[in-house]
Amino acid sequence: MHQRRIGHRIERHTSIGSTNDRARELLEGADGHGSVVVAEEQTSGRGRRGRTWQSPPGRNLLMSVALVPGLAAAEAWRLGLATALAVAEACDAIAPVALKWPNDIVAADGRKLGGLLIETMAEGDRLSGAVLGIGINVNWHRAEMPSDLRPDATSLADLAGGPVDREALLGRLLIGLEAEIASIEMDESPLERYRARCSTLGSAVSVETVDGTVRGRAVDLDATGALVVEDSRGDRHVVTGGEVTGVRPAVPA
Ligand code: BTN
Repeated sequence: MHQRRIGHRIERHTSIGSTNDRARELLEGADGHGSVVVAEEQTSGRGRRGRTWQSPPGRNLLMSVALVPGLAAAEAWRLGLATALAVAEACDAIAPVALKWPNDIVAADGRKLGGLLIETMAEGDRLSGAVLGIGINVNWHRAEMPSDLRPDATSLADLAGGPVDREALLGRLLIGLEAEIASIEMDESPLERYRARCSTLGSAVSVETVDGTVRGRAVDLDATGALVVEDSRGDRHVVTGGEVTGVRPAVPA
């Protein structure tokens, strides 16, 4: 087991392509595990499924954590839940937030304020590396956001009604991540705590997947963190985070 190592090195960049790419490079070095990359600006910030992550310079938290997790490849899904819980707990000191399955941090009204881009590498049946990419809208006001983002996005400053200390947020997040990662490495499941904070559960959803759209009510997360959606006929569909391209609120089918 690793000692407290997340954040033993914090690499700070004024501008970088993507913190995830840099964290992956650091994993190739001997001391990569636990290294954190933070940037004021990304010129090629990546979201899930090839999307761009937009963020103006100097306002938000853009960071990636390089890890060599002590996890089986089959347990890789736990990294996303553990990271989401750590982010939510770090944000709680500022404003109450919820988790939208699979990788979003949202306000009570459903507007997105953060997202995760978890990338893993495996050797055989073990994980050989992971990059936990975290983007949080901190001091970027909705009024300043591009019109395509504004309807569905928000920031911690908007929720708090004033400026938010990014360094303090980063500090809390690193402490929380250390505990969450240690917990999943000890084979404790983050599922129950994730379920308790997951605003997707119980709501009517339209889930876009690589194989088509699933409409119904999100009723549960299964033992591997996949979303269980019950359609109007009572049939249950299990959707994994890896295959989902979008989750939208929907009128019940
Ligand atoms: C999403 O919601 O689509 C995931 C967004 C993840 C964005 C973060 S910002 C820091 C890290 N570096 C990247 O290029 N992406 C992640």
